[in-house]
Parts: sequence; structure tokens; C-alpha cells
Amino acid sequence: MHKFSFLLLVFSISFHTLFSQTAQHFPYKNSKLSAEERIKDLMGRMTLEEKAGQLNQLNGGIFTGPALENPGQKAKMQLVREGRVGSFLNVSGVAETKAIQKIAVEGSRLGIPLLFALDVIHGYKTIFPIPLAEACSWDLKGIEKNASIAAKEASAAGLHWTFAPMCDISNDIRWGRVMEGAGEDPWYGGLVAAARVKGFQGNLNDESHILACVKHFAGYGAVESGREYNQTDFSHVALWNKYLPPYKAALDAGAATVMNGFNVLDGVPVSANAYLVTDILKKKWKFNGLLVSDWASFEEMIDWGHAENKKDAVMKAINAGSMVDMQSRTLITYLPELVTEGKVSIEKVDDAVKRLLQIKFQLGLFDAPYKFSNEEREINELFTSSDANREVARDAAKKSIVLLKNDNNVLPIPKMIKNIAVIGPLAVSKEDMFDFWVAKGDNRLAVPIASGIAGMVDTKGYSFKFNFSNGYHLNGKINDTLINQALASCANAGIICVNIGLSGNLAGEDRSLSSPEIPENQVALLKALQKTGKPIVAIVSSGRPLILTKIEPLVSAILQTWILGSETGNAVADVLSGDYNPSGKTVMTFPYSAGQIPIYYNHFNTGRPIGKSDGSWRSRYRDVPNEPLYPFGYGLSYTTFAYSSFKLSSPTTIKGGVITASITVTNSGKYEGEEVSQLYIQDVAASIVRPVKELKGFQKFALKPGESKTLQFSISDKELSFFDGDGNTKLEEGKFKVYIGTDSKNVQVLDLELK
Ligand code: NOJ
Repeated sequence: MHKFSFLLLVFSISFHTLFSQTAQHFPYKNSKLSAEERIKDLMGRMTLEEKAGQLNQLNGGIFTGPALENPGQKAKMQLVREGRVGSFLNVSGVAETKAIQKIAVEGSRLGIPLLFALDVIHGYKTIFPIPLAEACSWDLKGIEKNASIAAKEASAAGLHWTFAPMCDISNDIRWGRVMEGAGEDPWYGGLVAAARVKGFQGNLNDESHILACVKHFAGYGAVESGREYNQTDFSHVALWNKYLPPYKAALDAGAATVMNGFNVLDGVPVSANAYLVTDILKKKWKFNGLLVSDWASFEEMIDWGHAENKKDAVMKAINAGSMVDMQSRTLITYLPELVTEGKVSIEKVDDAVKRLLQIKFQLGLFDAPYKFSNEEREINELFTSSDANREVARDAAKKSIVLLKNDNNVLPIPKMIKNIAVIGPLAVSKEDMFDFWVAKGDNRLAVPIASGIAGMVDTKGYSFKFNFSNGYHLNGKINDTLINQALASCANAGIICVNIGLSGNLAGEDRSLSSPEIPENQVALLKALQKTGKPIVAIVSSGRPLILTKIEPLVSAILQTWILGSETGNAVADVLSGDYNPSGKTVMTFPYSAGQIPIYYNHFNTGRPIGKSDGSWRSRYRDVPNEPLYPFGYGLSYTTFAYSSFKLSSPTTIKGGVITASITVTNSGKYEGEEVSQLYIQDVAASIVRPVKELKGFQKFALKPGESKTLQFSISDKELSFFDGDGNTKLEEGKFKVYIGTDSKNVQVLDLELK
């Protein structure tokens, strides 16, 4: 036998013997046993401190919350060695995750592998549009694909877990976190959340996917006056019909983990709210995955005035059914003594630890603890294949853009244009098209809007001259010099593209705004530019709908471009040039004025709706209209769509029955384009007042000029029912209205009766 083969044989025999001895003595290390048998064995070996350790999530590097007392790296690694850490957040990269995992696996008594988590919200290295923007594409397959790429990149950097999707419904654009959700509609929000979960997780049986986390359970989007971390106070009917559906849809799609919120329900912080965590999540919905607190949210119950001290906070959280403590290290300090004193049952602790271990076994980490920390994959996924990923990001970005106004068809920009002025510091900013939550995205690789427009000359057959000027300072006052420079820069322009809006870092967590308006210096610039009489295109960059009422009359066209990520400039150029005909429709209402907020399409009618009267003694404002500037579901195309032949297969239906609503849509314009047709239902009289309209179906499809398509929507019990305040499904006989149209306002209507 060859010497090398002999050595190999000896080595493999001794390794095998060692392994079987290990497996024999430590059944939890035996991959031939079932996960259940292994968990049972392992839990039998764990001390109370080690069990508490599994429920402790340490923060790694960056801070994504208030900087509490932070142990140094040495102290953190010591905790890992002692088996007193179950997972990390904010650590990523193969080198770092591998080094820390090694300490857990080889340096701690039981060698339990760690989980590594990060907020991978709209991409890891390739940055996709923010979730709010992406939702405006109404492209669920695309949304799933974006999440799967984010997962592939993140998992190649050693990560197992993302804290997404955020499923919080909010009607308040003052709340910066609306950028992280899918808008104001609970049903659509559920579809988007489910698509994202599927994209992140796949079947969780390979190292290209990561755990999703449904957050923030529950009702965080209802923060009063849109002020971050503020109190929430809403009815149980709202809880069941408005807030809970997206979380439920994400869980039905298989989400493995859930995060507590920062808010309260019925005066009880949600981290310690047994009704939410135990009664609904665990018992009613039979969720058998893992629950993680938000950043120190157990401990914050002291400031809420619900816990007397840290120990009391841990007791209340765990007794309510919460599990992992993110960042604060309060749980590892107090849980063991709480169990010893009989204040927290060991069954509760065991249940939480078991769920965590199940996930670690499911990911295969006990048998291959470094499988996600693979240098070769990190290079391949994050560098070699990033061009392909960017193509997907570009596609997502162009589909996320919403055309809000296009007078005289100024867009697409005609090919014969000789001179374009591009104005606004946002147009040359790489940072502002990224923020917030950009994981390891490198904004130096981003394409800003001005570069995208300039590139139209090389890539899209234009031959214009291009002038850039700033026109205004971000966060600055009206500056006449900048305005005059901008006016000079458009002396020869055939069209003026002004990039207005807000800096990217004004979107996201801790970014509430009392008055989400276009800043005065930008309005002043547009007023001056309007006097040139030239067509102006406003390109609005913002992580939320802004109040555009002041600028709307000053410009010919408005493109809402949100925060679009790595490929922003190219996507904007695709739309400006008409290479892509915009198809995005807003998933949040654009208010007419800040005083209307919260404003949303699925409101109640009230006892005194304004109707068609002059409005006296009616529910209305005296200074502004009730209507928003742009309603939910709104978005223009370069073509037009005509709706005709709206029919129901029957004007009546029965419980358990299915009827069909059909309508014909014709492309009545000159361009090929995609339309998102929307079906809404209204329950006219119900035991609990129902909204004036609720989205229950949509179809996105492409039509060539002159082409028609007849759409069919099924209406069954699902579309006609709602929840009472105890979460029971109600399906009540009586009258309904069925609406189909191009947005929530422009609809056709038919009557339906459930008998
Ligand atoms: C606090 C945020 O509310 C949450 O969404 C995020 O996942 C954690 N911090 C971790 O960064």
C-alpha cells in the first residue's frame, strides 16, 4: 500500500473510532440519531446557566440601538467559552464568524454552535430597493428573488439569520420605519411578507438560505403621532384585522423566528404580553419556532413602568412566553436565580432552549458548525457573481419606481433632446440611495442618479449635453446663489430633472419626522425653475411618501424613486428613457397635508361621511380636502388602460360558494406597459363596522398597445369575512360591494349579496 494511503487509512480508522466513542458517550453529537433524541440528550447535560446562556444574544460590533454597557471583546469571548451565549447579532464575515464559532464549538464545555444574525433588510452586499419601494412593484416573485439573493450573499458571509421581514402595518408616514415594511394594506402586506420569508429561508436545508424573523410582534406600526418608540393604543378589532394578518401570513409561509416589538398592547409591553405571545402566537397559531426580544426590550419595561427592576423584567418576559434576550445580558444574569426561586418555571426555560436547539440542528450546525463560514463561497457569492445580482437589483429598482404625474407626456424623455439639466445634491450622492439598514453594502459601488442619466448617452441612443448643478443644500436654508447657478445650468436645457427629497439617513429606525414635507429650499428652487417655462421632472428620493402638494403644481412630471439601492441611477435612466415603462403603484397613501396623517384608504365611512354634499356638519377639514394627494394603489404608466365589461358571475353568493368578478382591460395608449388591476370589497353592513374598501386581489400583467385582457378574480368566504376582537372569523350574510380598478379610488363597482 502506498505510504500516504496507509496513513490516511490509519487516520480515518482512528478518527472513526474517536467519532464513534464521542457519539457513543455524547449521543447529541451522533448525527445518526434524530434531532429529538440529540436535543433530549443535550438538554439533560446542560446546567441552568448554560440553558440561560442559549437564550442570551450578544451584540458583536456595530450598535443598532442605544449603546448600553458593552463588555469588551475579551469578556464576550469568555462568556462564549462558559457556554453563556447562544447567538450573536451584528457579527458577519467568514473570518469573524468562524473564529467565534470555533471558541463556542471547541472551547466551551458542550460545544454548542452559535447562531449569527444581522439586519439584512434590503440586501447584504448588493443593495436592493428598500422594502417599501420593492412592495410598490407588486411583483411577488421578484420580491422573493431579491430576498433569496440577499440570503445567498449573507449566508456566504457566515450569517444564519436575518431580522426581516418587518410586518408592521402603519398609516403614518411620520414614522421612519415605514421604509422597512410593505405599506398600509394588511392583506398585501401579508403576501409580501410571505414572499420575503420564502426567499430568505427556502427550505432551510442548504447553506444558501437564512432564517427569517417576523417583526415586531405586534402592532409597533401604530406608534402614536409616528414618533419612534412611542405608545400604541388600538382596539382588538384593529389588532386582528389590521395589524396581525401580515405576521400570520409570514408565519404560514414558514418563518422560523419572531421578534418582540417595543410597543404596548392594552398597556402591557408586548415583550411581556402573554395574550400576544402565548395565547395568540404559541397556542392559537401553534408557532413552534423561536422568539427573540428586540434590542433590550425586556429591560426597557422598567422605563415603561411595567417592571420594577431588571430581574422583574426578565421574570415578566419569560413568564409571558418570550424567549431570547437581545443584547442586554439581563437574562443571563437573572434567569438562573429566578428558576431556583421558583419564580420562573424550568418548563418555560426548557421550551425556549429546545426551540433554539431545534433550529441549530435544523441548520445542521452540530454536524457542520462552519458550513456557513466558507471562504470560497464568500469570494464567489460576494464578488464573482455580484454582477448578476446587480442585474436583479436593477430590475427590482425600475419596477419600484412610481410615476405620480406626467403632464403632456413629458416622459419618456424624447431621443432628440439636445441638452438636459440635472439638479440636486441627491443626484450625485451614493450614500443617500442606500440608507437605512444596508448591511455590508458598499455605497462606493452604487450608481447615482446623475451618472445613470449621463449614461443614457452611451447606452440608450441619446446624444444630449448634460449639465449638473446643486441648486440647494441638503438640510440647508434657501440659497439664492445655488438657485442662480441652477438657473444658469439650464439655459440651454430642453428638460430639467430635479432630484428632490430627503437624505437617505432620514429613513428608518429612529428617524421620525413631525412634518414629512419637501424642504422649503427645494420648493424655492422649483419655483424659480418653473419661471423658465421649461418642462421639469421632479425625481423624489425618500424612504417614505412625502407631502408633495407644494411642488406638484410646479413641475410637469413626478417620479417617486424612493431609495433604490445599488442600481438606482441605472433604474431611473431605464424609466426616464422609456426603456422601461413605469408600472409601480404606491402602497402608502400620499397625504395632501401633514394634518391628515394618519390617512389611509381602508378607513371607516363614519356616521357623517362628506359624500357629495357641500360638507357642512360632515366629517371633514375646513382648511384642506379629505382626499389625499395620491391614493393607495396609484401609479401612472406611459400608456393608458381602459376598463370595461365589469361583471359578476352572479349577483348573489352563499357561504362556501365561489363567484367570479371579471373585467376587461385594454391598453388604450401608445406604449406597451404593465398594469396592476386591483379588486376591493366592502361589507356594507356588518356586526363590526368594516372599512370603505379592502384590497382582496390584484393582477399584474403586460399589454401591447391596442391589446386587451379579461381578468377573473374569485370571491369566496375568504374575501368576504373578517375577524371579531377575539380573533374569531365572521362571515355575515348581507350586502357587499365589489370594486375593480386601476387604484383604490378609480374603480368600477357592482353589488353582491351573501345569502
Ligand atoms: C432594533 C430594531 O427595532 C430591530 O428591528 C432590529 O432588528 C434590532 N434593533 C437589531 O438591530
